[in-house]
Amino acid sequence: MLTTRPTFVSVGFFFLFLSLPLSTLSQPSMSSVYDSFLKCLSEKTKTPQSQIAKIVFSQSNPSYTSVLRAYIRNARFNKSSTPKPTIIITPLSESHVSAAVLCSKPLDFVFKIRSGGHDYDGLSYISDKPFFILDLSNLRDVSVDIAEQTAWISAGATLGEVYYHIWEKSKVLGFPAGVCPTVGVGGHLSGAGYGNMLRKFGLTADHFIDAKMVDVNGAVLDRKAMGEDLFWAISGGGGGSFGVVLGYKVKLVPVPATVTVFRVEQLMAAGAVDMVHKWQFVGPKTDKNLFMRMLIQPVTRNKVKTIRATVVALYLGKADDVVSLLSKELPELALKKENCTEMTWFQSALWWDNRVNATQTDPKVFLDRNLDSSSPGKRKSDYVETEIPRSGIVSLFNKMIELGKIGLVFNPYGGRMAEIAEDATPFPHRNMLFKIQYSVNWKESSPELEKGYLNQAKVLHSFMTGFVSKNPRGAYLNYRDVDIGVNDHGEDSYKEGEVYGRMYFGKNFDRLVKIKTAVDPGNFFRNEQSIPTLPIAKRTGVPEQGTAKRWSGAGGATVVASVLLHVI
Ligand code: FDA
Repeated sequence: MLTTRPTFVSVGFFFLFLSLPLSTLSQPSMSSVYDSFLKCLSEKTKTPQSQIAKIVFSQSNPSYTSVLRAYIRNARFNKSSTPKPTIIITPLSESHVSAAVLCSKPLDFVFKIRSGGHDYDGLSYISDKPFFILDLSNLRDVSVDIAEQTAWISAGATLGEVYYHIWEKSKVLGFPAGVCPTVGVGGHLSGAGYGNMLRKFGLTADHFIDAKMVDVNGAVLDRKAMGEDLFWAISGGGGGSFGVVLGYKVKLVPVPATVTVFRVEQLMAAGAVDMVHKWQFVGPKTDKNLFMRMLIQPVTRNKVKTIRATVVALYLGKADDVVSLLSKELPELALKKENCTEMTWFQSALWWDNRVNATQTDPKVFLDRNLDSSSPGKRKSDYVETEIPRSGIVSLFNKMIELGKIGLVFNPYGGRMAEIAEDATPFPHRNMLFKIQYSVNWKESSPELEKGYLNQAKVLHSFMTGFVSKNPRGAYLNYRDVDIGVNDHGEDSYKEGEVYGRMYFGKNFDRLVKIKTAVDPGNFFRNEQSIPTLPIAKRTGVPEQGTAKRWSGAGGATVVASVLLHVI
C-alpha cells in the first residue's frame, strides 16, 4: 500500500523523526519537500532553480500569505485556523503545469487546483490533509476571433476579463456565463456555468468548441487528443476530478445593441406572496429573451419583520416590449417603463454587478483583481420541478422570517434549457422549473454566530424538502455544498461519491465515474467532492493504468503515510 512513498524518505529517518518533537522537525521537513519539488520542477522544465523558485511559494516565503489570500473569495476560510498549503505553485506556462503535476504525483500531498477561488466551500484552497495549491491566476489570456465569433479563454481569466475582451472587439457579441465578474473560468466553466442569458442560450458549457487540459501523465491534450468522453466530462462534470483545465475555446452569442434591465421590489404587505407564487408560472415559461431572477429576503420595516421579494431582470430587447409583455403575463409585478433602463449588453453586465451607474462606469473595472472584499458566507442549492402552492409560499416566508437572516434566489429555467438533452453535458437538471440558491453572508467573526448562520442554511434546506426535486434531490455543482456529502477516498470512496455525485449529476454520474476510472485510475486528481473511481472489483472493461490501488482501498494507511510525509 505504501509503495508510492517518495524515495527521499528513508525508513531510518522516519524512526528518527518519531523520536523528535514536532516543532524541531516541521521546518526542515517543509524545506526538504520544497527543495525536492523545486529540483524536480527545474529538471522537468529545463529552467534554473533560481528562476523556477519565483513561482513556487513555501510557507517561509514572504509572499506566501498574499499569494494564498489573493484568491480566497469566502472569508469563512481566511482565518489563521484555516489549514494552509505546504506549497503554492503559480505557473506561467503550460509546461509549468505539466511539470507541477508530474513532480507532485510521487508525493502524497493532495493537489488542489485553483483558478478564481470562488468555490463556495473553499475546496480549491483548503484540505484537512497535507496539500499543495496549483494556482492558475497567471494564465489569463483571452483571445477573441470576431470573424469566427469564438474565443479561447484561459482558466485563470475572470469572467469580467472575458466580457471586457469581447466588448473591446464587438458590441453585438456576448457570452452566456455567470453574473459575478471575479469568478474564474477554470472552476465556473468546468462546472457547467450559467448566467442571465441561460433561458435564451442555455448553460456556459453548451458553448464549448474545444478545450485544453493537462492530464495525470502531464500531457497537454486538446479535444481531439483527449477524446469525446473526456471532453464531455470537463463540460460540466467539474474541475479537479480529471486533470488541470488550461482553457476552453467557446462560441460567442449574438446580443442586441440595446438590452433592458430592471429591479422591482415588493414587500409582503404589498402582495409579495401572490407575486412570487405567480412568478413560478411565468419566469420559466415566458419569452426566452427574458430572465427574471427572484430574490427573497427577510427584512425589517417599521420594526416589523417581513419578506422582501425582488425581481432582477435582463431582457434582450427594448423596454417598451418587456413592459408590455409583463403587463399581460405578470401584472402582479406592476412593472413600469420608469423601472427599466436600456443599455448595451456589456453595460448590463456592470449593472448586474451592482454598479449603480452602469452606463457611466469605466469598463476597465472588470480588469480589477484587487478586490479583497469577500465576507464569510454559505450557499446551498435545490431544484423545483412543480410550482410551490400559494400556502407553501406563505409557510416559506414565515419560516424565513423566523430564521431571520438567510435568503433565497430563484433562477428560472425553461426556454433553451429545456430543449437540450439531460445527457448532452454532465449537468442533468435541464427540465426543472427553477433553481434555488440558499444564500447567507455575515460580517461578524464570532464562531457562535457563524454556527447559527450555517445552521439557518441547513434548517431552511430541510424545510424545503417537500417542495423540491426528489430521488435524487438535485444540487448544482458550482454551488458547492459539502453538507451533502464528502469523500475520504478510502475503501468507501465510490459509495461516498455516489451520495453527492447523484445529486449533482443524476444518471450522468455513472458515465463520469467510468471516464474518471479510465483517465485517472490512481485518483491523483481528487478533492472532497470529486468523481470517485470504480471499485477495483467493478473495473472490468475499464483500462487499468497501473496505479489503481494507490487510493482505492488504501484508506487509513495511505492517509497516515501522507500525514507523516507532510511533517517529514
Ligand atoms: P475555484 O478556483 O475555487 O475552483 C472551483 C472548483 O473548480 C474547485 O474544485 C477547483 O479545484 C476546480 N478548478 C478550478 N480551476 C480548475 C482548473 N483550471 N482545472 C481543473 N479544476 C479546476 N456560478 C454560476 O454558474 N453562475 C453565477 O452567476 C455565479 N455567480 C457567483 C458569484 C460569486 C460571488 C461566487 C463566489 C460564485 C458564483 N458562482 C456562480 C459559482 C461559481 O461558478 C463556482 O464557484 C466556480 O466553481 C468558481 O470557479 P473559480 O475558478 O472561481 O473557483
